[in-house]
Amino acid sequence: MPATVVLGAQWGDEGKGRVVDYFAESADFVVRYQGGNNAGHTIVVGDQRLALSLIPSGILYPNCTPVIASGTVIDPKVLIDEMEMAAAKQLDPSRVRLSSNAHVIMPYHRKLDAAIERYLGKNQIGTTKKGIGPAYTDKYARFGIRVQDLFDAKIFREKVEAALEEKNKILPRIYNMLPMEADEIIDEYTRYADRLRPHVTDTSLLLWNGLKAGKQVLFEGAQGTLLDVDHGTYPFVTSSNPTAGGAAVGSGIGPRAIDEIVGVAKAYISRVGTGPFPTELQDETGDRMIELGGEYGTVTGRRRRCGWLDLVALRYANRINTFTKLFMTKLDILSAFDTIKVAIAYTSRGIRYDDFPSQQSVLYHCEPVYEDLAGWNTDITEVRSYDDLPKEARAYIEYVQEAADVPIGWVSVGPERSQLIEIQ
Ligand code: GDP
Ligand code: IMO
Ligand code: MG
Repeated sequence: MPATVVLGAQWGDEGKGRVVDYFAESADFVVRYQGGNNAGHTIVVGDQRLALSLIPSGILYPNCTPVIASGTVIDPKVLIDEMEMAAAKQLDPSRVRLSSNAHVIMPYHRKLDAAIERYLGKNQIGTTKKGIGPAYTDKYARFGIRVQDLFDAKIFREKVEAALEEKNKILPRIYNMLPMEADEIIDEYTRYADRLRPHVTDTSLLLWNGLKAGKQVLFEGAQGTLLDVDHGTYPFVTSSNPTAGGAAVGSGIGPRAIDEIVGVAKAYISRVGTGPFPTELQDETGDRMIELGGEYGTVTGRRRRCGWLDLVALRYANRINTFTKLFMTKLDILSAFDTIKVAIAYTSRGIRYDDFPSQQSVLYHCEPVYEDLAGWNTDITEVRSYDDLPKEARAYIEYVQEAADVPIGWVSVGPERSQLIEIQ
């Protein structure tokens, strides 16, 4: 602190929500800087489980202002519903701040997301179908609609009509879908605007003033490094930059304000959606990981693909993000395995790769080179100090931090808030 970024070191679902919840206790602001309701972040406190897709995970702490910054894409209905869900759980959504520059996910974005996936057939990305890609596409094409546009009836109508001019050619002619009505969309979104108005502000200025006053800012990444549109396994990625640099760009805070970058990595690895995955286990071991780890999507309920920890990818994530520390989650899931494998390199068509290949066609054919480590076969979910972990579990942690070349500062041994160990 003052500014810390928490972000996924893998393909998402690393446990960022629970890690952000841990750091948020001492934060004044928790900031989502990219993505939208494609994210699903789970926090477990006692026997209560909270799944958030847009509201930053700091909502649980009354001292914390949850901020949704300009680099995000917002489905207004989802945000309103989530604020109502939070209020029903006695959390105070009135503190949520939304950037007037964030882009709005429109009904035609959701339609297009589903239509494009169908059109791609066997080459589909396996998106969450929340309209994320099409909303970012319009942003970069410079005819996106921003939160601020919702509050000027004339401008809003002009922008919706201009967008529909194009979408109503594309939807029927290319995707064989019905065209959409401007009036219906405008009526619906104007109602949302009234509801969102008290939350909308210049979030870059809010954070700048906070930082100047010595407040603590925590950035909450969504998705993960390998889903980054520039540095992930393109085209099987999301449409934003979850990586550390994205926190500065997506929030309007200069990079020098950031002094801690915590990478979150599971003790194994998972991926939801299609795309290359060198350590994927399509066997009984993989099935066990999925069942023991509860690896089903928070947003879509999809079964996640699972595999052994990939140290080539973790070293790559460290290079792209310059982590100050790692937070390793779900170590408890590995208690079930006699031998634990980690990928230390790849081979592809007879060539060895120690660095993550930048060529997609190489990555596609990569086979992992594994190192076998001893398992511990003991329940560790009640362990709270590093020295009380079985020696094999400590050896695993030490091996990973050495190989990834970044210290592991914390491990978690269960989903509940208190189930974690700080490593001195
Ligand atoms: P996120 O998208 O990175 O926030 O991760 P998700 O919430 O989508 O998925 C992580 C899942 O693992 C959630 O169900 C968490 O409650 C759970 N989880 C987090 N840490 C641990 C842990 O240390 N052990 C176990 N068993 N579950 C965990
Ligand atoms: P959190 O924040 C895991 C994946 C989708 C798909 C690809 C593109 O919970 O870690 P999109 O809808 O973003 O256009 O889909 O990205 N994906 C995620 N996978 N965790 C997520 O978020 C994800 N958000 C998107 O499955 O492969
Ligand atoms: Mg998730």
